[in-house]
Amino acid sequence: MKKYTDKTLSPSERAEDLLKRMTLEEKVGQMLQVSYNALNPVDYERYKKRGIGSFLHALGKERDDIRKKSAKTRLGIPPLLGIDAIHGHALLNGATVFPSQLAMSCSFNRALLFETARATALEVAADGLDWTFSPVLCIARDLRWGRVNETFGEDSYLVGELGKAVITGYEYDGNIIACAKHYIAYGEATGGRDAYDSPVTERKIREVFLPPFKKAVEAGCGSVMTAYGSIDALPLTANKRMLTEILKDELGFDGFVVTDWENVKSLVHKQRAAKDIKDASYLAVEAGNDMSMNTHSFYKYVLELVREGKISKERIDDSVRRILKAKFRIGLFDDKERPDKSVIGCENHRKLNLAIARESMVLLKNDGVLPLKDNVKKIAVVGPNADSIRAQFGDWTFFSHPLPSAIAKPRGEYHTVLDGMREVFGGDKIIFEKGCDIFGHGGGIEKAVDAAKRADAVVCVIGDCLAQNGEYRDRANIDLTDPQTELVSRLCDTGKKVIAVLVNCKPLCIGMLKERCAAVIETFNGGAMGGLAAAELIAGRFNPSGKLSISFPQTSAQMPCYYNHYHGWHGGQYVDLKKDSVYTFGDGLSYTEYAYSNLKLSKKTACKDDVIEVSVDVKNKGGMDGKETVMLFVNDVVSSVLTPVIELKGFRKVFIKAGETKRVTIKLNIDDLAIIKSDCTREVESGDFEIMVGANTRTYLKTVLKVK
Ligand code: NOJ
Repeated sequence: MKKYTDKTLSPSERAEDLLKRMTLEEKVGQMLQVSYNALNPVDYERYKKRGIGSFLHALGKERDDIRKKSAKTRLGIPPLLGIDAIHGHALLNGATVFPSQLAMSCSFNRALLFETARATALEVAADGLDWTFSPVLCIARDLRWGRVNETFGEDSYLVGELGKAVITGYEYDGNIIACAKHYIAYGEATGGRDAYDSPVTERKIREVFLPPFKKAVEAGCGSVMTAYGSIDALPLTANKRMLTEILKDELGFDGFVVTDWENVKSLVHKQRAAKDIKDASYLAVEAGNDMSMNTHSFYKYVLELVREGKISKERIDDSVRRILKAKFRIGLFDDKERPDKSVIGCENHRKLNLAIARESMVLLKNDGVLPLKDNVKKIAVVGPNADSIRAQFGDWTFFSHPLPSAIAKPRGEYHTVLDGMREVFGGDKIIFEKGCDIFGHGGGIEKAVDAAKRADAVVCVIGDCLAQNGEYRDRANIDLTDPQTELVSRLCDTGKKVIAVLVNCKPLCIGMLKERCAAVIETFNGGAMGGLAAAELIAGRFNPSGKLSISFPQTSAQMPCYYNHYHGWHGGQYVDLKKDSVYTFGDGLSYTEYAYSNLKLSKKTACKDDVIEVSVDVKNKGGMDGKETVMLFVNDVVSSVLTPVIELKGFRKVFIKAGETKRVTIKLNIDDLAIIKSDCTREVESGDFEIMVGANTRTYLKTVLKVK
């Protein structure tokens, strides 16, 4: 028996044995990934027959054909079939479409996120695929950026924690490989311009952007994707410091690095950092990329470069070893038994989807109108996103990828907000008028106003659309569009209670909703069950528990407005703008009230390698059971470099019955209080740290911890 076919050996041992049997061509072939819709059919066929490392976005017949042909290659090395299963396996019509990453991050629920990832992995694997390009570990601090919806929000700690939960979920059953992306500081590009230069230092990278990737590596993440952009003018694709010295050598990442789409080509044509593709291929491999996504001549040039002695054989072996290990890890060489196709869009996943959609909704304002009383007779449901499943799904579904479709119809069960309102309150109570489009008045505002006048309550569903979000779609201005602002104002002028429901990819400037509406609910992209969850929230069928993972500015010019900014702004606000954001990280109401008391530290003076316990009593003072996310923030009182005014270092979501008090304990690792000094070294500096535990960044109990 050949050693690499021996299932009793470890993936590393098997990869080592297979590597010895491979020709240089076969090895370099493993370092290439091609997309089925980016090639002419003749070339594509050649790659299938030759056998390469990976294909992406191949579904249905394509996928089967690739598998068949790769099995006939000399060594029969199976390709990794990759897919953007970003919030569910949503490029496949009929699979479960979970809320967007941004929406789910508002649940602050690690366990539920783990479950959604696990469910997604089952659906991906059942569909014959092996690798998802998820999760996104970028930090969303400039809201102009088109890809904010793909993130877990603005806080590095939260991003790392939820990223870890999702990676563990994806890889839990050993079916698929996860991919932490986009490495690194991709969301911090100048002006929120996608794929552009991020003017950040290595110190800042270590402080803000690296920690989530460190957690991903610790969670055993199988792959990492190199970002499109550059850092302080050096393209990530050519950045040996970031990819090899920090990611692989320092963090000990032993998976493989794949470039983003055509990164190698972009070094030549977009970034002008290489004279030709051969030069670019050299830079990419030497920097530490193991697989090139979709620059096909990479294969030919890397072969040449090795033959010319410019790239060493050892360097190639290192990449191929990493890729093969991933394939062995998920059983690709072992006639792997895949989950039954019936898991795709199944009832269990539908229930899970509803559970996460409920916990993702954030109730931002409620003057008492919610929950709507049972005796409400007529409800006007209006607004351009009330019946838009496209807007509710958001980016990265079969509507938008691999190719945009204007006519696709969802195959699985879904509920828009209008559907949900009809199901929860009864169709005869609902009057629907769209009112306007996102961009146009469409002549419907008068009809919507008329409907509002005839109703006891108004649910106005507004937000944004796909044309305003995603790659290539950054916005200079994140206001609600004019027709929607006019619609809301006209509805409020009727004197009826207006409940604003936001279906949008990312934060918008919604000061006017806060001022004029009776209630505001943020759903972001709530996925297939989002509309039902929103209606249930309005009816009080569950107690809202979502909290914002991202802050909302008053105007676009107030960006960035993330909560954990440094001390030191002279004046602390603009002369022509009130202080603070409209809504801030951590904000979110419920239908009950929680009271915090009795904050205690297991030690008042700690050593630098201690883990201490921070505990607090949380009482549910209201009349409804609920889940509360208890947040632990710190402030480093004096530090040798600037530190945030307040910053999350722990959280726990707990269920508390009406009237009950629970003692909640959060572990605080003193090492997490480390700062990154100017010389990039990491140190917990001795001194005082304020420890704040509470519901959000403004409501908390405070004590001081001394670190020796
Ligand atoms: C481009 C995107 O930046 C990345 O997130 C995605 O995974 C790949 N293309 C593959 O579609």
